[in-house]
Amino acid sequence: MTHLRNDPHGRGVETAGLLPPVLHGHPLQATGRRLVDVDQLDERRVTEVNTPEHGVLAVGLKPDGSPFAVSNLCRHQFAKLGRGRVTADGCLQCPWHRADYDVTDGTMTSGPKGRIFGFKPYSWAIKTFGNIAPLRPFPVELRDGAIWLAGGPS
Ligand code: FES
Repeated sequence: MTHLRNDPHGRGVETAGLLPPVLHGHPLQATGRRLVDVDQLDERRVTEVNTPEHGVLAVGLKPDGSPFAVSNLCRHQFAKLGRGRVTADGCLQCPWHRADYDVTDGTMTSGPKGRIFGFKPYSWAIKTFGNIAPLRPFPVELRDGAIWLAGGPS
């Protein structure tokens, strides 16, 4: 991960923009319950997938190989989490101020970072608020080299 020089926000993406990535990037399209082929994931290990049933989800793989799908909206400034990355310890990290989420229950495990938004009382308050309304996790499974929404017809 690279950071902008003199970036007081400690952003997780290389950008000169002032606004968070609140728009979807270019979400992949699910085919029925088949969300994404594993080999479509890059080194970030997460991507946005548009599903007919649940809209755009953040879908990815943890380093231990377990798949996940969660709602796509950061609880801080609403950046799209599918544009972030999966950390070495398996958290989904926001692309904007690098809040971390546990993808199994949707809770924020660490708040925003950076010189401004990482101010401890502020970051703690955001984390507390984020855990009142955690991300929604969706049951998924790994099959035939792809991540699928679990249950229901293919
Ligand atoms: S928008 Fe996600 S941490 Fe700030």
